[in-house]
Amino acid sequence: MSDTESAAMAAVYAARTVGELAAGYADWAERYDAETAASGYRLPHLCAAFLARHLPAEARPILDAGCGTGLVGDDLRALGYDGITGIDLSEPMLARAAGRGVYAVLRQMTLGEPLDLPDAGFAAVISSGVFTAGHAPASSLDELLRVTRPGGVLVFSVRDDIHRTQGFRERQDALEAQGRWRLRERSEPVRAFTVREPHVLARVFVYEAA
Ligand SMILES: C[S@@+](CC[C@H](N)C(=O)[O-])C[C@H]1O[C@@H](n2cnc3c(N)ncnc32)[C@H](O)[C@@H]1O
Repeated sequence: MSDTESAAMAAVYAARTVGELAAGYADWAERYDAETAASGYRLPHLCAAFLARHLPAEARPILDAGCGTGLVGDDLRALGYDGITGIDLSEPMLARAAGRGVYAVLRQMTLGEPLDLPDAGFAAVISSGVFTAGHAPASSLDELLRVTRPGGVLVFSVRDDIHRTQGFRERQDALEAQGRWRLRERSEPVRAFTVREPHVLARVFVYEAA
């Protein structure tokens, strides 16, 4: 563990089950914002910035999948967006997000399982820092696409090694080959954390739902 990494932070990235992940985030929720800031966490800001290149500010509603404490929601509101729904598996993380007052709706849901959300209900879906080690599976993408309107955009980060090894590349390419979404933009490799683990790279993907 580095100076900027707590035991809870290490635990969530080593989780092997949803139960371990939920316990890790329950333990980390209160310190999450301060510790991720100290570790130079960039993904929420980068994902929000990529969304803003593709979505007019009046478009709504927007789904923030794996919203955590709501860092993305804060960025979206700063960019002029409104009508944001946040979902996350962790109730303690959702409680922190509620405290920001930027989400219209916050609900506990697990990515990788069917989502209790209607078809084509969202103008955009954003997900920052969720497609990483021991977190949500590639199959989550199908449900996120189902809840996005035709012509709507999906913006999400995927850690580079997870993209190669956990079925993301194959799932993303299959959805494109099936004509279900179209890649609008893919970032160059970016640092998820500029202080902690600066060698860990991720990419931000932007797709348009068919
Ligand atoms: C690294 S945090 C990112 C939070 C926020 N998006 C951000 O960038 O600050 C990952 C979040 O995803 C949630 N998460 C992980 N796996 C999940 C899953 N399968 N379904 C729903 N939420 C999940 C965790 O509870 C946690 O809040």
